[in-house]
Amino acid sequence: MLYYGADYYPEHWPEARWPLDARLMHEAGFNLVRLGEFAWSRLEPRPGRHDFSWLDRAIDLLASHGLRVVLGTPTASPPPWLMARHPEAYLVREDGLRATYGHRRCYCPSSPAYREHTHAIVGALARHYGANSNVIAWQIDNEFGSRCYCDHCRQRFQEWLRARYGTLDALNQAWGTVFWSQVYSDWAEIPVPVATGGVPNPALALDYRRFMSDLYVEYQALQIEEIRRHSHGQMITHNLMGFGYEDLNYYDLARPLDVVSWDNYPRTQWAAAEPGDGVLAALGHDAMRGLKRQGFWVIEEQSGPAGWQMLGQPPRPGEIRLWAYQAVAHGADAVVYFRWRSCPFGTEQFWYGILDHDGTPRRRYEEVKRTGGEFARLSQALTGTGVRAEVALLHCYDSRFAFQVQPGHPEFRYATHALDLYRALHRRNVAVDVVPPTADLTAYRLVVAPALHLVTDEVAANLARYVGAGGVLLLTARSGVKAANNAMVELPLPGLLAGLAGVEVEECDPLPAGVGRPVAWEPPMVGHAGTGQATVWCEALAPCGAEVVARYASGPYAGRPAAVRHRYGRGQAVYLGTCGDSALLQALADWLLSQAGVRSPLVTPEGVEATIRQASDGRQLLFVLNHADEPREVALDGAWRELISDQPAPSLLRLEAKGVAILQKA
Ligand code: GLA
Ligand code: ZN
Repeated sequence: MLYYGADYYPEHWPEARWPLDARLMHEAGFNLVRLGEFAWSRLEPRPGRHDFSWLDRAIDLLASHGLRVVLGTPTASPPPWLMARHPEAYLVREDGLRATYGHRRCYCPSSPAYREHTHAIVGALARHYGANSNVIAWQIDNEFGSRCYCDHCRQRFQEWLRARYGTLDALNQAWGTVFWSQVYSDWAEIPVPVATGGVPNPALALDYRRFMSDLYVEYQALQIEEIRRHSHGQMITHNLMGFGYEDLNYYDLARPLDVVSWDNYPRTQWAAAEPGDGVLAALGHDAMRGLKRQGFWVIEEQSGPAGWQMLGQPPRPGEIRLWAYQAVAHGADAVVYFRWRSCPFGTEQFWYGILDHDGTPRRRYEEVKRTGGEFARLSQALTGTGVRAEVALLHCYDSRFAFQVQPGHPEFRYATHALDLYRALHRRNVAVDVVPPTADLTAYRLVVAPALHLVTDEVAANLARYVGAGGVLLLTARSGVKAANNAMVELPLPGLLAGLAGVEVEECDPLPAGVGRPVAWEPPMVGHAGTGQATVWCEALAPCGAEVVARYASGPYAGRPAAVRHRYGRGQAVYLGTCGDSALLQALADWLLSQAGVRSPLVTPEGVEATIRQASDGRQLLFVLNHADEPREVALDGAWRELISDQPAPSLLRLEAKGVAILQKA
């Protein structure tokens, strides 16, 4: 079943308005609303005094219009009375200053007082709604994140370190504290990496990121436990922030959840102003699906201009519908818009919803409604289908954290490099799972590992096993540089991966900003495609059993290998000693796909994306999505039926600007 709906804040409007909202939602084809998020001061106006009556009435009314509820726990925005009583529960920022009242996410995730109040409000809600069949799921808090540097977190960090290292000797050894005379003789001496401490030891800085991530997982677990105690089979989720967010280990955060949700705002993305080809949202969906390797929910889908101080771009006509289909095409089983109606007051006045501030349905509502009607008709065909990928992109939080500490190059960003590699795969419409480097990789024909900077024995063994058994692996520059303690390895690079890659990195030249160096392909790549440029850094490679795939064509490393291929066991590992521009990465990706025997499901013109949802019996739905501002044509092989129109598809399929088709073999 496909869930479809909006985030609704009934507490923002007079109750007399609610019936009209419920009716409009029903008419839009909605079957789900998210409620309660940020409503703590309405749910517990005085310490210990709960008032759930208004929420009861809202849930009853919505249910009478066929709407089920995802209930948010309100802990992302504490009421003023709570923080006034417990000023020590405010988060301390990296600059050492303590937060004050006025925003949200202002709390310290380790604070005992905050946890006590969390326990109480979540417990009260769970007791009240745990058996309510109209409440089908819970959302814990809102968009976990924000590191705290308070004294209590410092103490918890010291305990965390004690559990990890056992003895101070082991910690001193692992951290290399002999450098600058930082040898600790008492756990209590260990600092947290506040800005006043200057540039921290990279080992401490990485461990603090791991610790903070664990702390949020622990805080989430407290809520999950409380809900499970009283809930009768309701699902539990949290709303994550896609691939762009990098302060928490989302694999750990997702593990105890029943379903992953995420917040998708294609016109406020982290790497580009224009959604263009849909690649950013596609990566976000694939990354969120990969967290549990199962269907996921979009619990906040952009439905209007988005901004706080600035007015954002509105979704272009057709984009609200297109993005909803894109989510489903990538494996979403729920599309829930943020937000039902734009709020006239508060920080998010400019963050529009489906309805404008005056509550009048206009073009955005009509588009939502059209999509809802279509979804209702498609729901049965979608049942039992999901995305199956033959390609995996490895997403390593340890490497990502290590790059936060030391990017190594002012132009290097792990997420951008991963996106560049993903884009080349996306352009060929092959499905990609975004999984951690410890994942079981046997199902994949091709594995792409962007800058696997920090490598453990476990990861190295996993990759060797995968390639040995016949897999195709791509490694890129700055891989294998770091050990688990964020120290440089005392091995030829790429460290633990050198044997698998059949290569040693002789030296590395960080390129000046904006400078590229042309590369020339060697056999077996010659004749395969165009060339391209090395970017960001150039590693000069010395093959040790590998064959050369590309050489630098100019610059100080002219003639020296830039990429190699190593046959290992029954598979092959390719090492690329640079980041690479889009031409280089496209040529390389195309070659790797052919080496791995991965076929594109459909050849599409630029701006048009195609993905498949399939059922276990092999039944396939091919989604074709036109992100371009103009109509596009796609040539189809064989006989197809288009499911939205319920018509046979012509062999030259024409998609309007932002148009969508869902094809099934006739
Ligand atoms: C996040 C939150 C929402 C809302 C939007 C807009 O996605 O989850 O509650 O605040 O941002 O700012
Ligand atoms: Zn703290």
